[in-house]
Amino acid sequence: MSTILIPGGAGFAGSHLALLWKREHPADRVIAFDNLVRKGSELAPARLAMGGVEFLRGDVRVRADLEAVKEADLVLDCAAEPSARAGYADPMYLVDTNLTGTLNCLEFARTRGARFVLLSTSRVYPIAALRALPLEEGAERLFLPAGLSGTGWSEEGITADFPLEGPRTLYGSTKLAAEVVVREYAAAFGMTAIVNRCGVFAGPWQMGKVDQGFVALWAARFTYGGELGYQGFGGTGKQVRDILHIEDLYSLIRAQLADGARHSGKVYNVGGGAGNSVSLRELTNLCAELSGSPKTLGSVAETHSSDVPWYVTDNTAVSAATGWTPTRAVPDILEETFRWLRDNREELQGILG
Ligand SMILES: NC(=O)c1ccc[n+]([C@@H]2O[C@H](COP(=O)([O-])OP(=O)(O)OC[C@H]3O[C@@H](n4cnc5c(N)ncnc54)[C@H](O)[C@@H]3O)[C@@H](O)[C@H]2O)c1
Repeated sequence: MSTILIPGGAGFAGSHLALLWKREHPADRVIAFDNLVRKGSELAPARLAMGGVEFLRGDVRVRADLEAVKEADLVLDCAAEPSARAGYADPMYLVDTNLTGTLNCLEFARTRGARFVLLSTSRVYPIAALRALPLEEGAERLFLPAGLSGTGWSEEGITADFPLEGPRTLYGSTKLAAEVVVREYAAAFGMTAIVNRCGVFAGPWQMGKVDQGFVALWAARFTYGGELGYQGFGGTGKQVRDILHIEDLYSLIRAQLADGARHSGKVYNVGGGAGNSVSLRELTNLCAELSGSPKTLGSVAETHSSDVPWYVTDNTAVSAATGWTPTRAVPDILEETFRWLRDNREELQGILG
């Protein structure tokens, strides 16, 4: 029997990983640790309990809170302020959680001999470099022309070789700084510590809001009503992201942990990939189809300083290293999200509506 500690375990990724782990390993003790700061995370403890996961309210910024856990064999670090727009009014919560909090979790893992996985982000890549990609404009989306490529990019997406020099948002900088220390711990202490630099996740129980979790936000506004609009890059909704179903992330982490020593100290770009990318316009069309009701969207032409027009993950390296590839397609993910929104209207409408 092992003990799995999941900081951020009441959040979207953390709660799924906790429940999936427990379902696959019923004898393990799975502890979701969270300060419930994310709106909607307060719904998680009941859901976690039904799946046999323990919930402990605590803050990763406070080492004594983590010490209350005592022992663990594996730490899946999912606690974060995950918005690219966070921290500009006051950076300290962001820095204390995403950087110091991750280091506290890492040190907890080191002193227990536990393995460690960090969920990092594609937002570590610099904004100017992503905006400088030679994108072309199609009728429904921006795209990179076939055959063109440069260091760390091609029509297949962005690899971990993409240059890291340049501002990347405060959020991205805290995650990159955390990555550096996690990999250093792997080298210095020989601990198993893996970094997954992830693109956009989606699936049920994502408490989408304007600045984070746009797939759930789109589906929620189509289901419950409320305003929705394209922002930036001319306001036409042609910006593109790739989408990864959260259960596909779980499969990857399982594959990595099966050969942890091999993946330790590595950083992998992880996402839905080019075949599972979508523009906001395309997402709008899919939502109209699935909800059966079209919606008029607003439009703001000006681009927010943190925004990038195109991000698609090139999964080549992680697939070659693990044999893993994503299995869930965007329409499938959306359909499941709509079902979840309809089935849980009473508790979700006040949060996502
Ligand atoms: N959602 C995505 O599309 C995405 C993409 C790339 C990377 N990531 C990364 O994945 C991880 C999980 O993201 P998510 O989408 O589940 O976000 P989330 O906001 O749903 O979950 C994060 C959880 O951390 C908790 N938390 C915040 N500050 C805390 C603190 N100081 N102490 C304890 N708990 C705290 C929140 O209450 C929340 O439940 C994050 O590290 C994020 O950077 C997410």
